[in-house]
Amino acid sequence: MSKLFESTTIDGLTLKNRFVRSATWDAMVNPDGSCSQRSIDLMVALAKGGVGLIMTGFAAVRQDGQALPFQTNVYSDSHVAGLRRLTEAVHEAGGAIVMQIYHGGVISNRELRTGCVGTSVLETPQGPLGKAITAEQIRDVIVAFVEAALRVKRVGFDGVQLDIAHGCCWTSSYRRTLTPR
Ligand SMILES: Cc1cc2nc3c(=O)[nH]c(=O)nc-3n(C[C@H](O)[C@H](O)[C@H](O)COP(=O)(O)O)c2cc1C
Repeated sequence: MSKLFESTTIDGLTLKNRFVRSATWDAMVNPDGSCSQRSIDLMVALAKGGVGLIMTGFAAVRQDGQALPFQTNVYSDSHVAGLRRLTEAVHEAGGAIVMQIYHGGVISNRELRTGCVGTSVLETPQGPLGKAITAEQIRDVIVAFVEAALRVKRVGFDGVQLDIAHGCCWTSSYRRTLTPR
């Protein structure tokens, strides 16, 4: 148990202890996806409260890959100032912070869903969702992840976590109604 309170180093990143706040979409960012003071206050409270490493909630690497409202926008340079304030505040409070980045595939953006791309079209009781991604579009998504990761690094995050999960987990609730191929 006491080991939890000991400092450790992960690939050059020194943490004050082994407590990690798992990635959590808290819906506290501004409606345009920029970082809010409320988000900064929460992360600082976590760091001061003793969390060694904070994972942010899933941040969208592309606008058409955003799954939920009030999700951090990491696909453009327009919001980097707020993210920089966030990383500086967490570091000042003695914590480390990693940004989780994400593309929602066919479960992205409620308004754009019919135009969204994913591994395959998802059949739902409400009708088909999204379009099957092409090889060229896969390259575009990879580039979006790379650009987001570089942006994350530039604004001072201690690392980046790839969320390649939630499309699958949400999809499972539709599994019953999937059209056999
Ligand atoms: C409100 C809410 C938002 C979450 N957002 C994310 C997220 O953005 N990314 C992620 O990987 N997991 C997310 N999770 C999953 C959590 O990180 C965590 O894995 C899950 O709550 C199980 O952990 P527990 O067993 O300690 O509760 C979220 C969970 C909740 C309840």
